[in-house]
Amino acid sequence: MSFMDISRYILNNAASQDIKTDFGRFNGDKKVYIETYGCQMNFSDTEIVLSVLNDFGYAESGSVENSDVILLNTCSIRENAEKKVYSRLEDLKFLKKKNPNLIIGILGCMAERLRKDLIEKKKIVDLIVGPDEYRKVPYLIENLIETGEKGIAVKLSRVETYDDITPVRKEGVTAWLSIMRGCDKFCTFCVVPFTRGRERSRNLNNILKEAARLYLSGVKDIWLLGQNVNSYKHEGKDFADLLKAVAIELPEMRIRFTTSHPYDLSEKLLDVMASHENICKYIHLPVQSGSDRILKKMNRLYTVEEYMRVMRKAREMMPGIGLSTDIISCFPSETEDEHKMTLDVINEVKYDGAYTFLYSRRENTKAYEFETDIDEETKKRRLDEIITLQRKISYEINKGITGKIKEVLIESTSKKSEDQFMGRTDCNKSVIFPKKFSYITEDGKLIDKAELKIGDLVKIRITKANSATLFGEPLLN
Ligand code: SAH
Ligand code: SF4
Ligand code: F3S
Repeated sequence: MSFMDISRYILNNAASQDIKTDFGRFNGDKKVYIETYGCQMNFSDTEIVLSVLNDFGYAESGSVENSDVILLNTCSIRENAEKKVYSRLEDLKFLKKKNPNLIIGILGCMAERLRKDLIEKKKIVDLIVGPDEYRKVPYLIENLIETGEKGIAVKLSRVETYDDITPVRKEGVTAWLSIMRGCDKFCTFCVVPFTRGRERSRNLNNILKEAARLYLSGVKDIWLLGQNVNSYKHEGKDFADLLKAVAIELPEMRIRFTTSHPYDLSEKLLDVMASHENICKYIHLPVQSGSDRILKKMNRLYTVEEYMRVMRKAREMMPGIGLSTDIISCFPSETEDEHKMTLDVINEVKYDGAYTFLYSRRENTKAYEFETDIDEETKKRRLDEIITLQRKISYEINKGITGKIKEVLIESTSKKSEDQFMGRTDCNKSVIFPKKFSYITEDGKLIDKAELKIGDLVKIRITKANSATLFGEPLLN
């Protein structure tokens, strides 16, 4: 078969993964730039797309200016996320004017939802590829170059997990490892089940192999990733089984996971967390609202009491565990009392941190039909109250840590200062501290400016804190 024949074959067949080719010889000198929006799943998917394109000889360009292909990996979760992408497309127009051969593509969650709108109204978009069709990206590009046809592939799959693709990761001590895709929960406010399709999990052994490869390449901290990590299921094994297997296989690796759904957070999972030192003591567990009536309208599948029971159990089994949450304020028909119930949950749990969002009405979701009857001023005030309360709690918790010694994994240079590192505690708190420090050896010698490096695990005495960050000084281990 010729290249074009195979391209056509693959474009017309969802099960394209079995076909091995040597198309790398085709576009050896092409440069691609991928800009990623949205959640960690999207960042992890970008690494998969880079891998698929690398196999075809595409190299990363590092900037939009030097690229033959620019791909935006997009998010649909709230209206604002989509607005950002539309305005980015406007920005990119001038590049297309300068270079009419430039290919601009949309990947990710906006692809399926907005393909018609994007193709018809956004003339600069040449390519639209949804989250389950990334294997087709190089073929669609080739086809576009040869025939001028715009490339569209937005089918959702019940089986695609990209299990056999080794993502192209940036060097670093932390890595994302995607273990499942999609979501079957259908919360009434959420687009994810529509943009990413049904839930499916990767093969457990392949996840273990990938984790081992990451360990050998110097990664020290893995995030197991999924829209609902804890509804992972593969050949009779659940998420607790998987987590345990990774923890045992890689005793020196720090292991974390996100995002969990309260409905699937079992005691078995808490047990596994508590009994393995290398599983980080941190859970992000979105509560969304403190009112049972609103939770029911959201189709969240738990009551406030059930949620609180899980939180209490987690604290009881793992004192000092880091806890965070997501909250949607002003869901349709939320009353003042129901808003106060959300503040009560925040006060009771005392989260280390929370991501708070104003409800955003999304087409196709069930809640789209619900009456939105809360005025703008009330929305702003309720959101402010939630943010202010959480900030105060985070600050109090962090202030309570000053004077204590924490073990920190050094992740990177601090964004704000070349002379400082950023690292994370087991409970996912970020800590900033100087890169160099002095200490006195056992025989009384002063060693000045000992050097630390990324990937080191260091003891830090916490000296200062604000609501988001801890600051400290390194101690000799
Ligand atoms: N699967 C995860 C969260 C995925 S989306 C879970 O169920 O916990 C991340 C967060 O975005 C959600 O927890 C929710 O708080 C927020 N979110 C989702 N849809 C939203 C909408 N329509 N408006 C406002 N916030 C939304
Ligand atoms: Fe969206 Fe709910 Fe699924 Fe989370 S569990 S991705 S909020 S539908
Ligand atoms: Fe956004 Fe899609 Fe993630 S909608 S939050 S990029 S799953």
